[in-house]
Amino acid sequence: VPGMEIPRILISLVLLPASSLSLGASKPSFVLMMVDDLGIGDLGCYGNTTLKTPNIDRLAQDGVKLTQHLAASPLCTPSRAAFLTGRYPIRSGMASYGHVGVFIISAASGGLPREEITFARILKDQGYKTALIGKWHQGLSCEHRGDHCHHPRVHGFDHFYGIPMTNLRDCQPGHGSIFYAAFAHVPYGKLLATLGGLVALHTAGARVAARRLATGLAALLLAMAGLLCVFILTFADLNCFLMRGEEVVEQPYVAENLTQRMTGEAVEFLERNSDVPFLLFFSFLQVHTGLFASPRFRGKSRHGLYGDVVTEVDWCVGQIMKTLERLELKEKTLVYLTSDQGPHLEEISVHGEVHHGYSGIYRAGKSTNWEGGIRVPGIFHWPGKLPAGKVIDEPTSNMDLFPSVVNLAGASIPSDRKIDGHDLMPLLQGRVVRSDHEFMFHYCNANLNAVRWHPANSTSLWKALFFTPNFYPENTTGCFHMHICHCIDPFITHHDPPLLFDLSKDPSESKPLSPATEPNFHSIVGVMVDAAKAHEQGVEPVPEQLTLQHHLWKPWLQPCCSTLGQLCRCKRDHRQGVVEAEVEVHVE
Ligand SMILES: *[C@@H]1O[C@H](CO)[C@@H](O)[C@H](O)[C@H]1NC(C)=O
Ligand SMILES: *[C@@H]1O[C@H](CO)[C@@H](O)[C@H](O)[C@H]1NC(C)=O
Ligand SMILES: *[C@@H]1O[C@H](CO)[C@@H](O)[C@H](O)[C@H]1NC(C)=O
Ligand SMILES: *[C@@H]1O[C@H](CO)[C@@H](O)[C@H](O)[C@H]1NC(C)=O
Repeated sequence: VPGMEIPRILISLVLLPASSLSLGASKPSFVLMMVDDLGIGDLGCYGNTTLKTPNIDRLAQDGVKLTQHLAASPLCTPSRAAFLTGRYPIRSGMASYGHVGVFIISAASGGLPREEITFARILKDQGYKTALIGKWHQGLSCEHRGDHCHHPRVHGFDHFYGIPMTNLRDCQPGHGSIFYAAFAHVPYGKLLATLGGLVALHTAGARVAARRLATGLAALLLAMAGLLCVFILTFADLNCFLMRGEEVVEQPYVAENLTQRMTGEAVEFLERNSDVPFLLFFSFLQVHTGLFASPRFRGKSRHGLYGDVVTEVDWCVGQIMKTLERLELKEKTLVYLTSDQGPHLEEISVHGEVHHGYSGIYRAGKSTNWEGGIRVPGIFHWPGKLPAGKVIDEPTSNMDLFPSVVNLAGASIPSDRKIDGHDLMPLLQGRVVRSDHEFMFHYCNANLNAVRWHPANSTSLWKALFFTPNFYPENTTGCFHMHICHCIDPFITHHDPPLLFDLSKDPSESKPLSPATEPNFHSIVGVMVDAAKAHEQGVEPVPEQLTLQHHLWKPWLQPCCSTLGQLCRCKRDHRQGVVEAEVEVHVE
């Protein structure tokens, strides 16, 4: 009956605005997941056919997949600083001018400065419940043990369960040490010869002054060797520990089942906060070496321990999504998954097993600004708000999360500083088709390594590299030998004019262009060099957080949780993993 339609329309007219209004008024929640060193080629949704990642693939299937999502740096500490602040790490002092680009020890004084504003701090001020579960790697204390000036709490995370540092080979018994690799190039032969010479000089009964010098130098060399041994032997106790809030609860941490325990913590956080807006940053310790998989995941993949670990990461993503579903939070929650940089191709275990991921068609991996080092998975999931199954090839950055999250939470972007990220929502929702990143700058530590240019009226995607690492995996020299590439001489080769690629035609950076193959070579390079100069001029100098001084071990900063008779060793955390009857096995 036509007459009956009117009231129904009226009712829906009355009800719809009210319900959409209340929906609009409730702030969205966020689950941001970052895997460590995961390769873009490790995931089914990015083309892997042999490593099964069904839960992550489902996120991409029901959401938006970015194929040119870029880490702001190819190393953990700076990449994460950029992610948290939306700024190139050089702006916060989280980029090193020296050799060591990440924090290595827990009792060092560098870290993300208090003046930096993270999205977590802004959301906390907006009334959000905020948590970081997993890896931090942005420093801990400044002047004395427990001042925790760089602790996640200072940067807006109410709740913290995880490790302030990073997981390393040294954190796990039987996995060797990254320092063996780092010290592999020390000229031991020469040092021994010097030592022998000094001893000879001493016994030959040279002049008193020379003898004293000889004795002193010999003692110094021996002391240094001794210190190095002590450093390696005590490394796990002093640096691999688990914190709950500001308390050390397990030192060193037991890696087995740790992903499970963190998953349990995340599920509990979601359950506890299901009726308030929340921000969960789940920062996996894996797939960084030393690798660990819980017993029920071991031997389940086709790719050795590495594949098992990826399988467990995927399982964890599944648990989090199941929890959101159970709590009816899926439509209210923006879920994001990424990696902090490309796979660490130098990671071969002490037994010769491959312990690294795969960068797919992209060149090289972690610590380089070849695409394999910075092109990371970027998946956004938000049913009802984001389209399903959309794929976007435009350049985007992990710095874009900052303005996107802040805007969605209804807060304003800080106006007193340069924010390098751009709000991604218009692009993700299809309201615009072009990314706001016309130029992007790729740093190797504090050195501007490359520029990317996506000109406004063209499909070209230019990348110019000012230097490239001396990386020869085929004969294990160069970076391979060093365990990680460095950004300074003699570990790099400079290019003037820069190496130019059009990534839209050569995404693998296989053949640099030249004036012969690209008629506009000089004008293109000219525009990019000018953009780089303008960018560099706009970077205000700030104190560097990764200086030698900040890297040094300061005993008075050393976190230490002791039990009777055991110095800096304790086990006070009793969290168990998520108990699930069965783990599906995805091997054909
Ligand atoms: C890890 O969990 C399994 C059960 O899934 C258990 O059998 C094992 O003892 C746990 N390992 C440790 C070190 O707690
Ligand atoms: C899948 O990932 C594994 C582990 O990184 C890698 O060894 C393998 O080559 C990848 N396979 C495909 C088909 O991409
Ligand atoms: C793009 O547009 C600018 C001016 O807006 C022009 O100078 C330039 O030549 C154009 N480039 C291409 C490749 O069409
Ligand atoms: C290693 O490979 C690179 C590139 O192929 C080459 O330039 C270099 O000389 C090689 N080094 C050795 C020791 O073979």
